[in-house]
Amino acid sequence: MASILLLYGTSEGQTEKIAHHVAGVLTGRGHAVELVHGERLPDSLDLPAYDAVVVGDSIHRSRHHAYVREFVERNREVLNDCVSAFYQVSLSAASERPESVAEVEAIEESFLDETGWTPDHVASFAGAIVYSQYGPLKRFVMRRIARKEGGDTDTSRDYEYTDWGEVTAFAEAVAADLPDLRQT
Ligand SMILES: Cc1cc2nc3c(=O)[nH]c(=O)nc-3n(C[C@H](O)[C@H](O)[C@H](O)COP(=O)(O)O)c2cc1C
Repeated sequence: MASILLLYGTSEGQTEKIAHHVAGVLTGRGHAVELVHGERLPDSLDLPAYDAVVVGDSIHRSRHHAYVREFVERNREVLNDCVSAFYQVSLSAASERPESVAEVEAIEESFLDETGWTPDHVASFAGAIVYSQYGPLKRFVMRRIARKEGGDTDTSRDYEYTDWGEVTAFAEAVAADLPDLRQT
């Protein structure tokens, strides 16, 4: 059994939801997964003790969360020494505009370049628009962004764009780097 840390950064919860899905696939393979919010690291966290580390983070205003960036920068060497994977979550990943998709891919590339981390697996997933969780200003801004990106603008409900098949494939790729412990 491999021991895996799955650390995520999230503002509205979609990256956490994706983290749970990834964890489900990995535990289904017999591995032990510890899910940790990047802003609430336990004092006892012993990173080198894990066989693999998966980090997920969402994009807000073209940036990753500072606490995730700090975690990666601080632990770059350990991350580069074990099986590691990174996924980012954004609205633009689901955009109809190729330039928006390219923009979030560039954000992911810069994040990895600047932190010096070279994960074994990298993915970019479409997230969600949760109008019900936004205050009036955020709702206004997100509606404008959604219109530009070809997303949904009816603020009376929430929208999820995540392709769960893509998330499963990412988790399975990570699992393929670890011993398969499923019971047959
Ligand atoms: C205030 C705000 C700013 C955002 N900025 C961006 C952005 O610059 N680019 C983008 O692609 N998505 C942007 N998004 C969309 C989020 O990445 C998307 O909603 C994602 O699902 C959030 O994940 P989380 O719930 O895990 O934080 C923004 C969302 C909000 C609320």
